Amino acid sequence: MTKKPTVFITGTSSGIGKATVELFIRKGWQVAATMRNISAPNDFSEMEDVRLYQLDVTNSELVNEVARKVWEDYNGIEAVINNAGYGAIGPLEGATEEQIAKQMDTNFMGSVRIMKAFIPFFREKRGGVFVNVSSIAGRIGMPLYNIYHASKFALEGLTESLYYELRPFGVRVKLVEPGPVRTEFNGRSREDLITNDQAGYKHIVLNVNNLYGGFFEKGDLPETTAKTIYKAVNSKGSRLRFPSGILAKFLMVTNKILPGNWLRVITSKVAGIKSEI
Ligand SMILES: NC(=O)c1ccc[n+]([C@@H]2O[C@H](COP(=O)([O-])OP(=O)(O)OC[C@H]3O[C@@H](n4cnc5c(N)ncnc54)[C@H](OP(=O)(O)O)[C@@H]3O)[C@@H](O)[C@H]2O)c1
Repeated sequence: MTKKPTVFITGTSSGIGKATVELFIRKGWQVAATMRNISAPNDFSEMEDVRLYQLDVTNSELVNEVARKVWEDYNGIEAVINNAGYGAIGPLEGATEEQIAKQMDTNFMGSVRIMKAFIPFFREKRGGVFVNVSSIAGRIGMPLYNIYHASKFALEGLTESLYYELRPFGVRVKLVEPGPVRTEFNGRSREDLITNDQAGYKHIVLNVNNLYGGFFEKGDLPETTAKTIYKAVNSKGSRLRFPSGILAKFLMVTNKILPGNWLRVITSKVAGIKSEI
């Protein structure tokens, strides 16, 4: 009997990660699903084709240990999906060093650690695919997501460079770029960067939060992003970027065709951000 293909996915306790596990199972894959807390109730403990591994992507030692274990358990795997992440939002002035470091450590360094752990295996095997879950926020800067944008822009640059470096070994890299998705991203996973009332950001924070709240409410289902991830994993060509969902695609095209700073002017208007200059 031929072995089912295997995918390794980070951050599978909710949202996009969880929907991606479910989709790959339906498509006949085996899944090495990682979570920060595998003892919390989850839908996967009884599933035959899912094995759970406890993993916090900020823990280098654990990342290396789990990668080695997964490779051994499955006698090699075919795909790695860097999905774990969260968004810090608010004025940069209100961010502590710890908040900034944690955002970069999770969204950017987390993916770097996982890739470094699996690259030697994929290189030796002469095959494998990394899918990094970036965001429209990895292509276009929007108000108040400053450090989150930095983490996703960094992930985009890293992945684009690795395209050249890993291709000679038959290893593919892909970026999935969702717009707003209805998950825990704007709920329990969200981290607020807070300034005091005198600093004068209050109305910007209020207006932008209202605007984003509407986007997230009407956002894509995580299943839509899961489908894009599946497509990226199976894409054998040179395509690097996979925008996901209507808003992401719309913004990407708008950003390309609008002259100069129009998108920033329109975004400021829509977000109710007045300028003093
Ligand atoms: N939702 C959106 O609108 C949207 C749009 C574009 C891109 N994205 C990206 O999509 C990815 C998944 O987010 P989501 O929308 O599905 O949100 P979510 O429902 O909050 O899921 C985030 C997942 O990441 C995990 N995670 C956070 N920090 C971690 C760490 N240090 N180590 C391991 N796992 C960690 C969470 O685990 P715990 O349960 O332990 O917290 C959770 O499983 C993120 O990279 C996000 O930036 C989301």
